[in-house]
Amino acid sequence: MKKSRGSSNSGLRSPEPGLEQKASSSKAPTQKPQPNVMMRIHYASRNTSGYITEQTKESILRVAVPMNEKFNITGVLICVKDMFFQIIEGPKQHLEMLFENIMRDPRHCNITKLDSTLFQDEAERMFPAWYMKQLDGMSWSSDDLTSRAGKFKVQDAYCALKNMIATVLASEYLKQASSYNISMSKEDAYYVMMVDFMHYKKFLYHLHQIEGGYQLLVKFVGNMLEMIKRHDGKHIMLMESSILILFEKDIPDHALSVAVKLLENLDSFRKNVNREEMEAFYCNIGITKALLNYKKLTSLNNCISKVSRLQNAADSCAYCVVFDECVFDSVGLNSAWKSQNLLKKIVTEEEEVAFTIVNDKNIKVSKEEMMELLNRLH
Ligand SMILES: Cc1cc2nc3c(=O)[nH]c(=O)nc-3n(C[C@H](O)[C@H](O)[C@H](O)COP(=O)(O)O)c2cc1C
Repeated sequence: MKKSRGSSNSGLRSPEPGLEQKASSSKAPTQKPQPNVMMRIHYASRNTSGYITEQTKESILRVAVPMNEKFNITGVLICVKDMFFQIIEGPKQHLEMLFENIMRDPRHCNITKLDSTLFQDEAERMFPAWYMKQLDGMSWSSDDLTSRAGKFKVQDAYCALKNMIATVLASEYLKQASSYNISMSKEDAYYVMMVDFMHYKKFLYHLHQIEGGYQLLVKFVGNMLEMIKRHDGKHIMLMESSILILFEKDIPDHALSVAVKLLENLDSFRKNVNREEMEAFYCNIGITKALLNYKKLTSLNNCISKVSRLQNAADSCAYCVVFDECVFDSVGLNSAWKSQNLLKKIVTEEEEVAFTIVNDKNIKVSKEEMMELLNRLH
């Protein structure tokens, strides 16, 4: 039902004009008298005038960001075609007033509250750093969501959305991580690691059916980035389901350690998700050594082709991690990897010599088992 706007008598008023200049701010809340009870509301609605335009989004955020900052409200606004999905969280009293305001807003209709939760602690906020982050559903592969949403079955659409939120949050984390500065002022040797998550989309489609699934994915990505950072790795790119990581150190052990830890993390993530067919979600990792100059993108492109060849090799052998002779040669003889014979020579389908790590997490299921698992994922 379309609501008429009327004047706001809720008490939650727009802040003074000066505050509106902070509309693009997304820093964490600072000044807060801490009321005890916090609330989070999820709702969906439909834009009154059809497809949501940039202008509509901009006009909402211009007011919402400074208002939310003032009232210590954080959250996310997701726009998919003509649908809004919003999660708002903050002190209960302010949040209820805001939601009343929002419900009176004539720019949207069919407002459906999907969830409302009380919590006690600031630390339980889902979006502590976002006074209102707008994300576009269109930029993620949202065909499934929009075709369901076409019928406006809000619960169905929300279910599909939940799994996409995971992807969006994961890629937002990755974007934030990519702001670690890489100072490649001159040409330098780097270990370059490419991680490709196999069957990612299929897997995501199923994740939303699993209770708590998307929180687990976000946690997994968070852990992964933390671990990359601890090993002096710099994530530099996220391409679909692949990430590219550079290691500046002179020795390749960091890249190898990250590869093994990543496999361990992935293994425990799959165990937590606790579904047998999740074995089909694994990664292929290629590692090489390359001379890179940040200003010369061709050197990066050449290196990406090289590392993708190694990933292809991983695809056609029993192991998830494959690296080339440059990496093998750089491992010091006394290093644990070599002294404990943890590095094993393999021959790729193109009959090139490559290497892998001996580790039980590095062994993939057989092709036949994989086919069976994939069939179950359909
Ligand atoms: C989809 C949608 C989301 C909104 N989100 C917020 C928000 O997070 N915070 C906010 O203050 N206003 C938000 N607004 C705007 C409010 O409806 C309202 O215009 C604003 O709180 C100013 O209220 P006032 O004009 O009564 O002062 C949103 C509006 C729409 C249509």
